[in-house]
Amino acid sequence: MKTQKNKKIKSADVRGQKGESWLYSDVVKEHFFNPRNFMHYDEEKKFKFNATGRVGSPACGDEMVLWLKIDPKTEKIKDCRWRTFGCGSAIASTSVMSEMVKEKGGMKLDDALKITPNDIMKRLGGLPDRKIHCSVLGDKALQAAINDYFRQTKQHKRIITAGAKVIDKDLNITDHDIEEAVLEGAHTIEDVQKRLKVGVAKPEAKEAIEELIRFYWEKYFS
Ligand code: FES
Repeated sequence: MKTQKNKKIKSADVRGQKGESWLYSDVVKEHFFNPRNFMHYDEEKKFKFNATGRVGSPACGDEMVLWLKIDPKTEKIKDCRWRTFGCGSAIASTSVMSEMVKEKGGMKLDDALKITPNDIMKRLGGLPDRKIHCSVLGDKALQAAINDYFRQTKQHKRIITAGAKVIDKDLNITDHDIEEAVLEGAHTIEDVQKRLKVGVAKPEAKEAIEELIRFYWEKYFS
């Protein structure tokens, strides 16, 4: 197939409404077409796991479920399986992440918790900016599954409490709301307000919101 500019577009390239291409790396395409460690419905009952995490993305309504088999003696991840209703970027990101945690005999839980969306992105050879929030889905499911393991093994002190913190009490804006807004592309306080469909935030909360925007922007896009 040839575009007007006579350039070849591969079938897996995604095109925006204005005709621009969102080019996915070969690694992304490869993992999308051949996802590693995917949990098929008929395998679920046979798979022996001891932790599970389920998260959804308010950004697009997609869901991710992740299962872990953790060796209680070494705290290494011996197996990691997942399933999602997410898009191709979520599939590729989680596929790569599931390989990362199983490498070299399995990653220890404390190390797995240190995996960042940037680490996944590097392995994928990048993602289009508008798709970065998809890579966070697998990462959050992994953390939820590890928390589930800590809960089940009564290691409550080790549970990571991302804890939604209310930043603006009048409007009930939490740090999670701001994180999601940034992942959807908000860069200013006005963008955040537009996306959350709320009016002007409490004046004293503005500074905290702007600080969080900077923090999440740097975390996901720097
Ligand atoms: S996971 Fe929803 S758009 Fe990618």
